[in-house]
Order: sequence, then C-alpha cells, then structure tokens
Amino acid sequence: MATVSDVKIIELPRFLDARGNLSFAENFKQVPFEIKRTYWIYDVPGGENRGGHAYKENEELIIALSGAFDVIVDDGKDKKTFTLNRSYYALYVPKGLWREMENFSTNSFALEFGSSHYDKDDYIRDYNQFLKMKSDEEV
Ligand code: TYD
Repeated sequence: MATVSDVKIIELPRFLDARGNLSFAENFKQVPFEIKRTYWIYDVPGGENRGGHAYKENEELIIALSGAFDVIVDDGKDKKTFTLNRSYYALYVPKGLWREMENFSTNSFALEFGSSHYDKDDYIRDYNQFLKMKSDEEV
C-alpha cells in the first residue's frame, strides 16, 4: 500500500547546450514503468485545481514542462506538497494515492505519463470512498 513517502522526484538527464537544452525519459530507465498513455494540461485559469482523484492501478510521472504548479499527494494519513518548476523534474506518483494539482502559474504546461490506458473505472473520485478503501487496504 503506497504512502506519501513513496512519491519521489526523479531528476531527468539534461544536455545543456548553447543551442538550447534537452532532456528525455525512456521506459524502465528514467520512467519506472512502461508508458501506455500521455496527456497534458494547459491553459489553466488562475485559481483552478485539477486532478482531485486517486488511481487504483495507474502509476504516473508528472512534469512541469513549462511554468510551475504544486502537486499535493495524500495517503489518507499524511499529505505532502511537491512544487514542480523545472522541466527536468519528474514526480513519480504510485497507484493508490489521492493527488491534486494547484497553484498553476500563467502559461504552465503539465505533462503526464501513465502506466495504463485511460479507464474511467480506475479512478476514485470521491475522497471519502478513497479514505475507506485506504483504511480497508483495498488500494
Ligand atoms: P479529468 O480526469 O476530469 O481531469 P483531472 O485530471 O483534472 O481530474 O479529465 C477530464 C476529461 O478528460 C474526462 O472527461 C476524461 C477525459 N480523459 C480522457 O479521455 N483520457 C485521459 O487520458 C484523461 C486523463 C482524461
């Protein structure tokens, strides 16, 4: 059962170059799973939050490709806030944690890699249901 201490920042490789910098991520190397899905969040109006849910199975990496935002992870007992503000920081979030994204800066761009295809039944969108499943060790 994942806890907030399993969430970690993975520092991606950086090739610094006068022509512009380059970073990358590969399956089972920097990315600790096989990527099955990618999606991105952009044009977030000031003050809006995204992603208030948990996944039963999906693991993910979240990167602030541009700008900055906070990711709050919650295991039902503890919460931890990670500020993502570099395009070479990837936040690894295992399955079974509640996570929300907030404090999006203007023009921020969030890229997410997931370990599974989109499946609406993999989502827990009710926080009280999440707490119950966590205490019953179902996630
Ligand atoms: P939603 O899960 O509400 O976003 P958030 O991460 O902020 O909670 O996703 C918004 C809509 O996009 C929702 O109707 C489902 C759809 N969607 C897909 O079809 N595929 C995907 O991979 C994702 C992430 C969302």
